[in-house]
Amino acid sequence: MSAGSWLQAQQKGLEKPGACAAGSWLGCTASSAGQKRETGGELMADTLRRAQQVRDKLIETFGDSEEVVVIKAPGRVNLIGEHTDYNDGFVLPAAVDREIIMAASPRDDGEVHLYALDLDSRSSFSLSSIVRDEKAGWSNYIRGVLLLLKERGLPVRGMNAVFSGDVPLGAGMSSSAALEMAAGVTAAAVGKFAVDMVELVKIAQAAENNFVGVNCGIMDQFISGLGKKGHALFLDCRSLEYELVPLPSSDEYKIVIANTMVKRGLVNSAYNERRRQCEMGVEILRQYLPAIKALRDVSPADFAEHKDKLPPIVAKRCEHIVYENQRVMESVTALQTGDVDTFGKLMRASHESLRDLYEVSCKELDIMVEAAWEAPGTCGARMTGAGFGGCTVNLVRADKVNDFVAFVKARYAEKTGVEPEIYVCEAEDGAKRLEV
Ligand code: GLA
Repeated sequence: MSAGSWLQAQQKGLEKPGACAAGSWLGCTASSAGQKRETGGELMADTLRRAQQVRDKLIETFGDSEEVVVIKAPGRVNLIGEHTDYNDGFVLPAAVDREIIMAASPRDDGEVHLYALDLDSRSSFSLSSIVRDEKAGWSNYIRGVLLLLKERGLPVRGMNAVFSGDVPLGAGMSSSAALEMAAGVTAAAVGKFAVDMVELVKIAQAAENNFVGVNCGIMDQFISGLGKKGHALFLDCRSLEYELVPLPSSDEYKIVIANTMVKRGLVNSAYNERRRQCEMGVEILRQYLPAIKALRDVSPADFAEHKDKLPPIVAKRCEHIVYENQRVMESVTALQTGDVDTFGKLMRASHESLRDLYEVSCKELDIMVEAAWEAPGTCGARMTGAGFGGCTVNLVRADKVNDFVAFVKARYAEKTGVEPEIYVCEAEDGAKRLEV
């Protein structure tokens, strides 16, 4: 059953199909965190080099050389499906080759000693009393994950750990989710216990929601945990079933991420406000559509029939979500059939909807996207992530990627006076243990 027809079935209130064609709706939760090792030969040279440096730093800092584990957890880019995750909807992110590398070794005294190499900052605590560290805020992502793993009864051990990353901070590429997933996979490897990757994803999200205090959805942790090289991941954020969607070959097309360099201001308050507006939409629409639990259950036809019952601003927010879910479905079909043009058009429609209906873009994101729409080799471009700054995502013909980068850089600098950073990326595997 194709994704599109499944959505239609879903909207008609039918049961999700039990038997699926091979390769679709894998619903797999089979991989375990921290246990499987990847050999050096399969790693990209750069990851391997950085992994060795972080391991050496661990040994230099703490003097340990026995039982060292090295983990990577990637950042992500969302190709399409923005702000749909907390509406029980659909997303299509990819893990990228920008990652956090963490090296760790066990301690017998139940203490955790952390060193953030890039920030040259340390934080230590005892596993018997895990509380927030207001000075080393970065450590709360790790503390929260370890606390929740412990509360699940998992045998978390004390450890020394060093980490370093090249996921740009505050740029909307999910450096926080990468750090949480790195912490979880490291704890499993050091403590020699198995934890199902989807469970770990849920723990990481809960740590961010309840310990760090950011009300995010599940997309970022999920893709950092379960991404696959060369693939995007089509995720049903309600059931957590997912399907890997092959991306066009990187010899033909590149994923290019363009950083506006605007640190995402406003993002927490505006994000929470959007969540409330969506919930309000569901409450009102439920009077007419009693079966709905979230905006994901509202079909475009039902929405068209009832949208006039919503306050205008709530109607705009809901309209984005209803059609964005639809666009994710159509994108999956387009990518599966190699229809890059259609995918590009859907990316554009997504950006316009985020700009005009959901109102989470900003001047700089619009300038970057408009530059990309005119640039050589562009198949599609849109803002990505929560919005209000951060990055755009672009699908660009590989043979034109240098021209694309030069054009977009020059145009953005000319219009804003700011030099953007542009990252030409590959879709990579999710969090895992490395053999170095
Ligand atoms: C942030 C959140 C995600 C998701 C996106 C918007 O990245 O962490 O859960 O809601 O914004 O799509």
